[in-house]
Amino acid sequence: MKEQILKMLRANQNEYLSGEELCRRFNVSRTAIWKHIKDLQEEGYEIDAVRNKGYRLVSAPDIVTAAEIREGLSTRRLGQHIVAVKELDSTNVLAAKLAETGEPDGTLVIADCQTGGKGRRGKAWFSPPGTGIWMSLILRPHLPLAQAPQLTLVAAVAVGQVLSDLAGHRAGIKWPNDILFEDRKCCGILTEMNMESEEITRVIVGIGINVNQTEIEFPDELRDIATSLRIVAGRPFHRAKVVQRILERFELLYDQYAEYGSFAPIREQWKQQSITLGRYVSAHTPRGLLTGLAVDIDEMGALVLETDSGRQKVYSADIQV
Ligand code: BTN
Repeated sequence: MKEQILKMLRANQNEYLSGEELCRRFNVSRTAIWKHIKDLQEEGYEIDAVRNKGYRLVSAPDIVTAAEIREGLSTRRLGQHIVAVKELDSTNVLAAKLAETGEPDGTLVIADCQTGGKGRRGKAWFSPPGTGIWMSLILRPHLPLAQAPQLTLVAAVAVGQVLSDLAGHRAGIKWPNDILFEDRKCCGILTEMNMESEEITRVIVGIGINVNQTEIEFPDELRDIATSLRIVAGRPFHRAKVVQRILERFELLYDQYAEYGSFAPIREQWKQQSITLGRYVSAHTPRGLLTGLAVDIDEMGALVLETDSGRQKVYSADIQV
């Protein structure tokens, strides 16, 4: 009911909504309505309450609750089911557990703060409260296992496009899926899946975005290598709105990818946004160090390096440019 009240307040934002009307609509007492209004105020909604007039929504807080994300979201699958938590260890961990119990394709797990945020290759991911987007999507794509890396690239293209639009500056993709502004990382993506069969039946795409941090809010070790959308754009953002834009763009690209039956259209967009191609890179692969000029990504999503001993493909690595 709280979410419904919020919806009504939003729909009447320029006028007062009488307590009486709310009571009638939900068939509850004034005290019950007042309790929900108080809860909303505690969450940070600024609601004007005037005797004999009623309630008016003045402003919505920057919070990543299901209600804020759902409001105006125009996707068909992604984010149609939302699990929003104030604090947890890692959204990827919770999403993996939920995926096992049958949560639907497109389920979004999001937290305001992660105490054990996971980065790639066992690193920690700095996920303080109130400033970033820490979210994971449960996808059930039914793709051959070999195509898994492409899914991450689709996500990177979607996030990269949205961040570029919002910041008004080009966000570059560093292979495979870091999003950077002028060589400082703003977003990382961690895709995890169960490898039990030859088909990907469920994937967790974890996306971490620095949104509203100022420079001093980053710990010393990150200050020179990380950035946030706010630092780049020079203004703060409403995180739930950023989440909506990402879900919408990801769904669009993902549908294109599925409809086209090939990675080709996304691959071209990835290449346009890449800051890796055309640079000499060192790739720390599970089989050792490879250095060379990054010349392409292939149709499967592997990075193609021109090395001293000819062209080599890199399927999984941390790279330095
Ligand atoms: C990287 O190392 O670049 C990947 C970082 C991925 C971080 C996100 S935050 C949401 C999700 N939950 C996690 O524990 N990790 C991912």
